[in-house]
Amino acid sequence: MSNPSLLILPGDGIGQEVMAQVRRIVEWYGDKRGLKFDVEEDLVGGAAYDAHGTPLHDDTMAKAQEADAVLLGAVGGPAYDDLDFSVKPERGLLRLRKEMDLFANLRPAQCFDALADFSSLKRDIVSGLDIMIVRELTSGSYFGEPRGIFEENGQRVGINTQRYTEAEIDRVARSAFELARRRNNRVVSMEKANVMESGILWREVVEAVHKADYADVELSHMYADNGAMQLVRAPKQFDVILTDNLFGDILSDCAAMLTGSLGMLPSASLGAPMENGRPKALYEPVHGSAPDIAGQGKANPCACILSFAMALRYSFDQGDEATRLETAVQQVLADGVRTGDLMQADDAQPVSTAQMGDAILAALDASLA
Ligand code: NAD
Ligand code: IPM
Ligand code: MN
Repeated sequence: MSNPSLLILPGDGIGQEVMAQVRRIVEWYGDKRGLKFDVEEDLVGGAAYDAHGTPLHDDTMAKAQEADAVLLGAVGGPAYDDLDFSVKPERGLLRLRKEMDLFANLRPAQCFDALADFSSLKRDIVSGLDIMIVRELTSGSYFGEPRGIFEENGQRVGINTQRYTEAEIDRVARSAFELARRRNNRVVSMEKANVMESGILWREVVEAVHKADYADVELSHMYADNGAMQLVRAPKQFDVILTDNLFGDILSDCAAMLTGSLGMLPSASLGAPMENGRPKALYEPVHGSAPDIAGQGKANPCACILSFAMALRYSFDQGDEATRLETAVQQVLADGVRTGDLMQADDAQPVSTAQMGDAILAALDASLA
């Protein structure tokens, strides 16, 4: 039988630096755990634009459709800020999500005990935090029509449309309920049903799915603005948060700071199960290309490494190996090995991206002893 395939798209800025560490870990699994992957690397974002004049070449899109899983670093950067909108680096990522139909974006936010003092919130508010944001990823205001910049009465008007069909809400709601059953069995759905018709429909469909098939899961609703406030007031009240594309984008960056750093947050973007029972999948850190620290070896690779752990769990049925990797990351942080984003002013010198990779590999080796 052939090995499972991994398409690696490092992208831009720190995407390339953090993915270099993930590649070492992928190799470790092949060498030490007999988990061999057929790895192919390709371009996305600004790197693809530089080579091909497009942020995602059709050949790369086709490879992503065929791969058992895609790992992506990050896209974007100031060098590409003035490009035409249609070829901006972010369009490459959005095309991957849309064409692979990756509607369920899982963004777990866990506060490891070793990092509880690095959150901008007090330790007792975040320690032990373990929440899962399920963000709808292929619809809503990111993709709704009409969209564009138009002339109207002698001035320009910018338009994006928040649009959700029942089917789109139904399927992502099911993903959230399924996840909740494997966690603490609670879902809070967030929208703005007080001011948006799309929010009213969202709430009705979530209620209907719940009543029909998931009545055993505890469900409640919150307006998304209150949800943002609750996320910083008392984040441990949540188990699974279900929300739309734009609210999910904002709420998940917010949740990142509960964990200590944006450099800690992984994500999995999943489609419907295919014939082989597995979903199409793309794994990426929640953070971006971090132009302010790119090229300096300062980036925290943990979010990208933990995204590979999610791939082991959700694409390759290797839950125990995913836990091994997550434990290795926690161990290293507990030992005080930290990149600069996890340092306090009077701390010792931070380690580099590659040294963080070294430490995690050493912890993986130690896990076999
Ligand atoms: P960003 O996430 O790149 O950076 C925000 C802040 O967090 C910066 O100060 C950065 O240094 C820090 N940071 C982020 N990741 C870090 C890590 N791993 N280690 C240490 N510090 C880290 O967001 P931004 O600055 O708003 O966006 C920069 C570019 O990235 C933009 O072009 C944006 O569109 C793009 N972006 C891409 C993705 C993605 O590819 N999924 C996500 C977000 C932003
Ligand atoms: C994210 C990013 C993306 C988004 C951008 C880069 C397209 O912010 O993955 O959170 O807005 O979804
Ligand atoms: Mn974002």
